[in-house]
Amino acid sequence: MAQQTDIRQVSLDASGVTVAFGGFRALTDVTLSITPGAVHGLIGPNGAGKTTMVNVLTGFQAPTGGQVTLGRRDVGVLSAHDLRRAGIARTFQAGRLFTGFDVLDNLAVTGVGLGHSRHASEVEAMRLLDWMGVPHLAEVPAAGLPYTDERRVGIARALMFAPQFLLLDEPAAGMSETEAADLAALINRVASDLGTGVLLIEHNVGLVLSVSDHVYVLDAGQIIEEGDRGVITASRAVRDAYFGADQEAA
Ligand SMILES: Nc1ncnc2c1ncn2[C@@H]1O[C@H](COP(=O)(O)OP(=O)(O)OP(=O)(O)O)[C@@H](O)[C@H]1O
Ligand SMILES: [Mg+2]
Repeated sequence: MAQQTDIRQVSLDASGVTVAFGGFRALTDVTLSITPGAVHGLIGPNGAGKTTMVNVLTGFQAPTGGQVTLGRRDVGVLSAHDLRRAGIARTFQAGRLFTGFDVLDNLAVTGVGLGHSRHASEVEAMRLLDWMGVPHLAEVPAAGLPYTDERRVGIARALMFAPQFLLLDEPAAGMSETEAADLAALINRVASDLGTGVLLIEHNVGLVLSVSDHVYVLDAGQIIEEGDRGVITASRAVRDAYFGADQEAA
C-alpha cells in the first residue's frame, strides 16, 4: 500500500528539547532524529537524561522547551496514549507484565487498548510470538516467566500492530552476554524486517555499538557526541563522560 510506504518514510525528531524539573535541567537543547528501519543508540552515564528523553518522545513528559515532530506533525503536545496510537511504542526500564494474565492476553490487552477487537488482537499477538520464535509462551502465565522471557514479552507487547518507532529503555539489563546477543539479533530484525525505527538505551555500550547505525551520547542532559561506532569509540568526549575528564588515556 502506497500510504503504508509513505508512513514508513517519516522520522521522529526532537529539536532543541529542554526539560526542567524546578531549577534542575534534566535535558538541555537536545536534538536527535529516529529514522525508519534503523537502530539508534542512546548512551550516557547514570542520570544523564536518557529515560527523560524517552519520556519526552513518548508523551510521558512534556518538554519545557523545544519540539517533537513526527514528519511535519507536532506531536509534543499529544498524550502517551495518542502517541502509541500514532505508532510510537516503548518499553519501560523496569516494565512489568499483567501477572494475572497469560502471555497471549498480555499482548492482546494492548491491542484492545489500541482500538482493535479482541479477536484481531489475539491473532496479532500469536503472529508476533511466532515471528519472535516463542509461540510456546502464548499460554504461559506471565507471573511464572523467567526474567529474560518477561523482558522479551515486554518488547512483543510494544510491537503489537507494528509501531513505526520502538523505544527500548535498558532491555538487556540483567541479561547474560548470550541473552543480550539474542536480543541484539531481535532488535536488528525489528529494524530491518519490520522497517521500524528503533531507539535503544543500554548501559551495555558494547551491545549498543554492535547493533546501532547511529549513536547519541548524553551527558548531564546534553548531547556530547553522535555518530557511528567508529566516531563514538574514538571520541575523547565520550571517554571523559564515562571515566572523568581528569582521567589520563592509557
Ligand atoms: N520527575 C523528576 N523530577 C525531578 N528530577 C527528575 C525527574 N525525573 C528524572 N529526574 C532527574 O533527571 C536526571 C535524569 O534522569 P534520567 O532518569 O532521565 O536519567 P537516565 O540517563 O535514564 O539514568 P539511568 O541510566 O540511571 O537510568 C536525574 O538527575 C534524575 O534524578
Ligand atoms: Mg534511565
